[in-house]
Amino acid sequence: MQLTSRLAKIADNIPRGTMIADIGTDHAYLAVYLVEQGICPGAVVGDLNQGPVESAESTVKAYRLENKIDIRQGDGLKILRPGEVDLVVLAGMGNNLIINILKDSPELLNSLKHLVLQPNKNPGDVRAWLAKNKWGIVQEELVEDRNKLYTIITFEPGKGFFPQDLFEMELGPCLLQNLCNPLVLKLLKKEEKKYSNILKGLSRSFYKPSPEKANNINYLHDKLKEALKIAQS
Ligand SMILES: C[S@@+](CC[C@H](N)C(=O)[O-])C[C@H]1O[C@@H](n2cnc3c(N)ncnc32)[C@H](O)[C@@H]1O
Repeated sequence: MQLTSRLAKIADNIPRGTMIADIGTDHAYLAVYLVEQGICPGAVVGDLNQGPVESAESTVKAYRLENKIDIRQGDGLKILRPGEVDLVVLAGMGNNLIINILKDSPELLNSLKHLVLQPNKNPGDVRAWLAKNKWGIVQEELVEDRNKLYTIITFEPGKGFFPQDLFEMELGPCLLQNLCNPLVLKLLKKEEKKYSNILKGLSRSFYKPSPEKANNINYLHDKLKEALKIAQS
């Protein structure tokens, strides 16, 4: 099984020997790779929709892993029983969907030891919800796939880093410790451009954000410029 660079980077973040569930699996490529490579003894894969479940079934069958990968159709973590897996992957989804899936199954969430999350956008919202629920960040990585930057974050309950301010929440406390990483530099440049455009747009617009929102935008823009200066020095 040949994974895309995004899925390969997610696979790199799965500890050897862990029973995992890949929720919103679609094609089941990640689970098939992890089991085929002997990284995971087995996996549960779940998806809400019939088409993706059929796609998962055909991949698992093609690799003859039906006895190691359990395919279930259903909503989020509701397809799992507490204790049957240690780690859940939620990848390739929007931030709100990820948060809602976690929010909807508090008992199951409490039974997990690791979460590996790859929101397609707004990772800051995901960090904020998990920090509020006492999940710390133990690893953060960036990967570029087809000209898009993706953030992959591993959380564990009560361990690791808890973002200390809005800048760390939005950019990632672990990523910000790695300013010389070329992908971190790319992220800083992209975000600086985004906030710079927001500020330009606001200066020309009749719409006025609340003072709190305006402060946050200015704060993030200043911190991004500061971090870029350090990263480029
Ligand atoms: C864009 S795909 C991502 C596939 C794969 N995880 C990846 O990263 O390549 C998102 C998948 O999430 C599934 N999905 C959406 N809402 C869901 C939910 N509440 N529970 C489980 N799966 C869901 C969709 O059917 C879809 O197959």
